[in-house]
Formats: sequence, structure tokens, C-alpha cells
Amino acid sequence: MKKRAVPTIIGNWKMYLETEKEAITFIKNIERKLSLKKIIKAKYYLAVPDLFVVTLAKLAKKGFIGVQNISGLSGGAYTGLQTVRTVKSVGASFTLLGHSEVRARGEDGDILAKKVSISLKEKMMTVLCIGEKERDTQGNYIAQLEEELRKNLSLVDRSLFDNLVIAYEPIWAIGKDVAATPNECFEAVIALRRALASLVGIDHAKKVSILYGGTVTKENASSFLKEGGVDGLLIGRASTDASTFSDIIASCHYKK
Ligand code: PGA
Repeated sequence: MKKRAVPTIIGNWKMYLETEKEAITFIKNIERKLSLKKIIKAKYYLAVPDLFVVTLAKLAKKGFIGVQNISGLSGGAYTGLQTVRTVKSVGASFTLLGHSEVRARGEDGDILAKKVSISLKEKMMTVLCIGEKERDTQGNYIAQLEEELRKNLSLVDRSLFDNLVIAYEPIWAIGKDVAATPNECFEAVIALRRALASLVGIDHAKKVSILYGGTVTKENASSFLKEGGVDGLLIGRASTDASTFSDIIASCHYKK
């Protein structure tokens, strides 16, 4: 598949940055660092706690601010939840969905499918996270990935695929010391691309960027783009330090 001109590098802050002050300092730093590096096309994406969106979206000139989850509902009597329209109305440009940490807290497949569908209907860039718990040598994990993808996209019309991004995040590599190898990433990405093509046809499948996530560091980041077959990265811990995150962005723009 043809490589995208500009890689999609997304940081997932989870709950690492807890105060607005820290978040503002980070955005000011990353804007300055990217200007100094003079990478004209450099863009960053940050999935932040919902309450930071309003302020950060105004400050981020080279980046896009998004959220880490939305509800699969379109309004009404649901205390404590946010709709996709709500987060969009205050400046969120994208949402992560189906992150393994959210799935582990009990998000079920039907609710996730609704979230994906409602987000794409609102034309929100939607980053669906998907990954196997274990990598077996017989390749059973591929069937699991395909099945998961089919379920999660079951309510989505193929015409909405323009705004869909898939993040391949093997659960065994998230928050660890060692990432997947670019080769392990490549095998899964090929399987996901095939599964997408068989679900919606090659033309719609081609519109979908696929990212890798799981213990991405400054040292290994560009190898996933060069050898892992992905169009970008989803980064947890290494996205919480502006200096590291801007170095990763720079390495991915120069060494593709
Ligand atoms: P990590 O997290 O980079 O800290 O492994 C990745 C993720 O959970 O998206």
C-alpha cells in the first residue's frame, strides 16, 4: 500500500498529566520544539483528558487535540457521559475508541460498535484500537484480530471509512519494557489490511491508516514506519514528555 505523505503520530496521555498547568506547559513546549526542528509538515495528535480539550485546542497550532473515549449515545438521560457532538463542539478533532484499558474495564463489543458508528457518522476522526492478548505461533491471533475488527465495524457504513484509523496495539506490548518487533507488527498489519479489504472492498480499505502502539520509544519509533508497514504510531508513556515526543515526531518525518 502507498505510504501516507505525513505520518500520524498520536500521543495518548491516559491520566499521566493531571493538571491543566502541566498540560499547557507541554503544549507550549512541543509547539516551540517543533518550530525549532523546522519540520514544516510536522503535526501531532494528543488524546487528552476531556476537561483539557477547550484550553489545549486553542493553544495547539501544529497539533490536534482529541479525547480518549466517548459514549455510544446521542444525548438524553445519561449522567456522567459525553457524546461525540459534545467533545467536538469544544474543539476535539478525534477520539480513541476501544483502547485495551477501556475494554479491560468492561466495555462490551456491542457498545464499542455503537461508539465507532456514532463517531464516524459525526465525521469525527476515529482511532479504533485493536490487538491480541497473546501472540501464538500457530497464527490463531490473526483470526481473533479479524473477528474483532468485523464486530467493531459491524454498524459502520463503508462510505464513512474516510475518517477511520486503526491502531494495532498488541496488548502484550502495552506499558511494557519491550515493544513488538517491526516484523511482528508487519504480520498483523497485513492481516488487518486484508480483513478490511474483505469487509468493505479494497477502495474503501485503502483510505484507512493503520498505526502501531505498544512501548514505542524514541529509539524504536521510526522502525515501525520503515519496516512495520504502518502509517503512524499511538504512543502512551513516551508522549508525556514534550522533548521525547517531539524527537519521535522528528525521527518519523525524516527517516521514513
Ligand atoms: P505505551 O502505551 O506506549 O505506554 O506502551 C501505549 C498505549 O496504551 O496506547
